Amino acid sequence: MNKFFKSTVCAVAAVAMMAACFAGCSKKDDTAADTSSSEQKEVLIMATNATFPPYEYYDGEDIVGIDAEIGKAIADKLGMDFKIEDMEFNSIISYVNSGDNVMGMAGMTVSEDRKLQVDFSSSYANGVQVVIVKKDSDIKTVDDLAGKKIGVQLSTTGDIYATDDFGAEMVTQYNKATDCVLGLKNGDVDAVIIDNAPAQTFVAENDTLKLLETEYANEDYAICVKKGNTQLLDKINGALSELTADGTVKKIIDKYIPAK
Ligand code: ARG
Repeated sequence: MNKFFKSTVCAVAAVAMMAACFAGCSKKDDTAADTSSSEQKEVLIMATNATFPPYEYYDGEDIVGIDAEIGKAIADKLGMDFKIEDMEFNSIISYVNSGDNVMGMAGMTVSEDRKLQVDFSSSYANGVQVVIVKKDSDIKTVDDLAGKKIGVQLSTTGDIYATDDFGAEMVTQYNKATDCVLGLKNGDVDAVIIDNAPAQTFVAENDTLKLLETEYANEDYAICVKKGNTQLLDKINGALSELTADGTVKKIIDKYIPAK
């Protein structure tokens, strides 16, 4: 590369970088203006996977749901701005470990294995792994799953248990919870193992599907932060216990999962 060409390339790159910075900066200012606060607040990022109603899902362009609302309430308590980053469920833990103001909130089950990678808050909800099948399926109980093709969301506890109990060759891993249900409807798998709350939503939306009555596993949901980030974890736990004590957490959960 000759000298002239090199410096032209550099100049073009510099202009491009400045333009990118301006775009980025003005975006930041917009966010600050939205909160109608003059000082720049810190941003609490919620890393999630929005294919999981009623905890996180898209309503038009917006991500809504139990986690989205509890997450926002936590940010408000902490005097922070709030931003949701949607990603594959499988990426949440590494994303959380890459930032100081990042919390993973995705109907995520506390497990011993995950505890080695991230730190968990106190639990804010309970989850149950259940089995969805077609209404005319010959699968009647969890034991009938042996030898059947099972759909799960990649890296979820449903995936981990199904692989342990029935063998990896019987398990199809989908990136999105919603795709597990499509796989079941298409006949690519015979059953889906997934958390109860999204399962109820999916079954309500598809009249060819039903839930098995037997539960597969019972679990606790919590928020995760970067391993060793006690500063953020203490703040989250403080906010969560206030929001639990004043009934906010229950109110949000009841709004999305009305008692029958
Ligand atoms: N509770 C299960 C787990 O932690 C599934 C969570 C899936 N969450 C989601 N937002 N897709 O493994």
